[in-house]
Amino acid sequence: MSLSAAQATGAEAVFDAMVRSMRVEAKDILSLELVRTDGVDWPVAAPGAHVDLQVPGVGVRQYSVLPSDATRSLWIGVQRDPGTRGGSRWVHDSLRPAQGVRVGAPRNHFALDTGSGPACLIGGGIGITPLLAMADALQRTQRAWELHYCVRSRDRAGFAALLQRYGERVQLHVDDEAGAPLDIEGLVHQAAPGTHFYCCGPAAMLRGFAGATAHLPPECCHVEHFAAPAVSAELPSGSFVVALARTGGEFVVSPVCSILDVLLDAGVDVPHSCRSGVCGSCETRVVAGTPDHRDVVLSPRERAEGKTLMVCCSRASGDRIVLDL
Ligand code: FES
Repeated sequence: MSLSAAQATGAEAVFDAMVRSMRVEAKDILSLELVRTDGVDWPVAAPGAHVDLQVPGVGVRQYSVLPSDATRSLWIGVQRDPGTRGGSRWVHDSLRPAQGVRVGAPRNHFALDTGSGPACLIGGGIGITPLLAMADALQRTQRAWELHYCVRSRDRAGFAALLQRYGERVQLHVDDEAGAPLDIEGLVHQAAPGTHFYCCGPAAMLRGFAGATAHLPPECCHVEHFAAPAVSAELPSGSFVVALARTGGEFVVSPVCSILDVLLDAGVDVPHSCRSGVCGSCETRVVAGTPDHRDVVLSPRERAEGKTLMVCCSRASGDRIVLDL
């Protein structure tokens, strides 16, 4: 559901906005400054948050929010993706300053822990963007932290203006020059007890991170995925019934369909984007029943609570689930 800027108030709000400026950060990476056309400040974006950008003819794409000194400006970073389905290509090739865009309110599935212990941030490529906002917040609260920024080559290292604020807390790792990927296992091994680890980057990096942190308490390990692990949507499952608490109606979800497919076929308007359990756009409240989670968005605690599920990929663990729709 899209609302006008005047109506927009909640997490699903969508704002009319304009590109005020664009900056080349590095090879194939742009940052965009977005301002609301109604002249009002953006809702607060917690560190790690992202926004939905509506791409004409393509759909909704998610981009992490960069730190900004002005609440009137919302900055995002966009890397041209060679495997793009059109989102980043449109931003790089067609979007220009003064052009209008529609942007969702910030949402966050990659939050900083609220404790006072040390934090180790590990970002690969454009995966640095949510970590920049975290670095900014950590610096303001004077917590112990370090950021490891991994790029394939030096010309792909962006956001120099932001990173130089933090001096030696930021370590740049250039794969081409080092001859090997970052030693995540070594970092974890050397870290102070109680450190929280955050990782956002390509699949190979996330696999390395998962292996290096497997022995740590899950609540200390935080990841954000660009794409779903290949196996997440392939688990076997039987049919079940999905019931809608607010609008009524019951539908059978067969083993070869997602809840989202069934709801869209029935004319139920459900926000969605990636359809693979990565972006969080389709998160829906559960009224009754137990979800069988298959996304990579929810934290272990959120999965155990079972209060929401991603209807694009997750299912019911029993024969019926009731959703707040
Ligand atoms: S549409 Fe992206 S998580 Fe469901």
